[in-house]
Amino acid sequence: MNVHELRTKYIEFFKSKGHAQIQGKSLLPDNDPTVLFTTAGMHPLVPYLLGEEHPAGKRLVDYQKCIRTGDIDSVGDASHLTFFEMLGNWSLGDYFKDGAIRMSFEFLTSPEWLGIPVEKLGVTVFQGDDAVPRDEESADVWRALGIPENRIAYLPRQDNWWGPAGTTGPCGPDSEMFYYVGGAPCGPDCKPGCSCGKWLEIWNDVFMQYNKKSDGTYEPLARTCVDTGMGIERTVTILNGKSSVYDTEVFAHIRGAIESAAAYTYGSDPEKDRSVRIICDHVRSSTFILGDPKAVSPSNVGAGYVLRRLIRRAVRHGRKLGITDQVLSPIATVVVEQFGGPYPELRENQNYIIEELDKEEAKFKETLEKGEHEFEKLLPNLLKDPRKIMSGRLAFKLYDTYGFPIELTEELAAENGMKVRREEFDEAFKKHQELSRTQGGQAFKGGLGDQGEMAVKYHTATHLLHKALRMVLGDHVAQKGSNITAERMRFDFSHPAPLLPGEIQKVEAIVNEAIKQDLPVTVAVMSLDDAKASGAIALFGEKYENQVKVYTVGKAPDDFFSREVCGGPHVDHTGGMGRFKIQKEQSSSAGVRRIRAVLE
Ligand code: ALA
Repeated sequence: MNVHELRTKYIEFFKSKGHAQIQGKSLLPDNDPTVLFTTAGMHPLVPYLLGEEHPAGKRLVDYQKCIRTGDIDSVGDASHLTFFEMLGNWSLGDYFKDGAIRMSFEFLTSPEWLGIPVEKLGVTVFQGDDAVPRDEESADVWRALGIPENRIAYLPRQDNWWGPAGTTGPCGPDSEMFYYVGGAPCGPDCKPGCSCGKWLEIWNDVFMQYNKKSDGTYEPLARTCVDTGMGIERTVTILNGKSSVYDTEVFAHIRGAIESAAAYTYGSDPEKDRSVRIICDHVRSSTFILGDPKAVSPSNVGAGYVLRRLIRRAVRHGRKLGITDQVLSPIATVVVEQFGGPYPELRENQNYIIEELDKEEAKFKETLEKGEHEFEKLLPNLLKDPRKIMSGRLAFKLYDTYGFPIELTEELAAENGMKVRREEFDEAFKKHQELSRTQGGQAFKGGLGDQGEMAVKYHTATHLLHKALRMVLGDHVAQKGSNITAERMRFDFSHPAPLLPGEIQKVEAIVNEAIKQDLPVTVAVMSLDDAKASGAIALFGEKYENQVKVYTVGKAPDDFFSREVCGGPHVDHTGGMGRFKIQKEQSSSAGVRRIRAVLE
């Protein structure tokens, strides 16, 4: 069975169970600053899972394109992907555990549908904790359907609890379905969910019972819902008895295009196979990102930055395979041909996809050639070092003079058995940032051109205000702009309605409390991905370098009040900033509010 057949069967099955098919949505989520990409089929459905009525009814089914970049560095092994398709069915206050599990079981095992033998399946359910009881209800349904006791594993919250990628939103215990690939178990404790590689997760039924609030509390949902997600690529892999998703029909044509461009036969050299897989994945992801109606282009910010990284990594691996012509666009054409049916936007945007890939590839090749040439010149000397360490200063020089990314210097160094002193690079990078700022007198985030003492205080106040607004109004609040003088600050942010007097008071109180606590303000330099992973807010309209500065206001790395990607400068401590007062709150444009505030 190929992906197209699986997609069709899934939709057909759930339609036969009274579900309405809805359209999958864009890869770039609307109005959600917590994620860059749609990471699961439920993402566009969050408002409905929280209680809104859906125009198509209470039972829904769709297929959704998704991107998860958390494991981008693992792509190249047998299983990791950045782009994948998720099949999903939803109950919005209709069926719950019993109904969802029975339908999952029927679709998986019935000869009319996937026909997977019951003895190949195992499941996990939530083992319970102080807040939520053990999910015996789900386990009982699985038992009743014939899943033996030793194939039902009870696992803790870290395994069997699901919520969206952001920290807030609908969530609850889940029950995951696994396929046993065969062979002897890895040990006496090998059970569904074991990470030894014998158990492949193919489907997840989430029982949405709570809304996680920004203060960390769980509010029971008035209406319980079901959210499920089946990974298309993984399921096709097991249905075809393959051990790697890259060995399936999903990638057969894409891989073929790479093999012929490189005059290489997949399977003959593990290192080259890794490059082939990276190109397969990254070109597919890039094609889908560029083909999205939202038309992202490669840049140094947000989704555009991820796209740039995917493209550049694919180009580099193309070169490793010895492809000297344009690597990406011919492969992207194959992706468009293969997926243009279920995703017609790829065909509609084909010209844009090809143009952008060609442009970015040409740009990067220039950078690469210069950087690699310089690295090679340095190599004989570097190899003389018995410790096999490359100094961070040298790596920085490659970056500073030739724009050669640190990740690539690290990769080249590793290929030659060396390590780069990363902290030294980061240090040099930070100094350079500071220097160019003083010299260039450049405008900072929010137009902080004036670096006087008061302006710096107001700048820190924007971070405190941003955080306080998110605490009081919710995580939809995103900074849309700011303007600072030595006398006052203005701050624009997304919010649909005027603030109530009580809300204004709460926001002021939170900011003043943070000032009163005299919290330290610290800065660290890291990649944008690491910044986001550490909980930093980044502004998506902003241009960022490969490495960004992250300002934290708070006592400890894990106990902070606010964390934002920002050029600075800021005060060292919040004490002494003065008393924060909101003077005016008004509309700025549609859906955007403006606050004028002073530090007295
Ligand atoms: N939203 C759930 C997941 O992604 C189904 O696993």
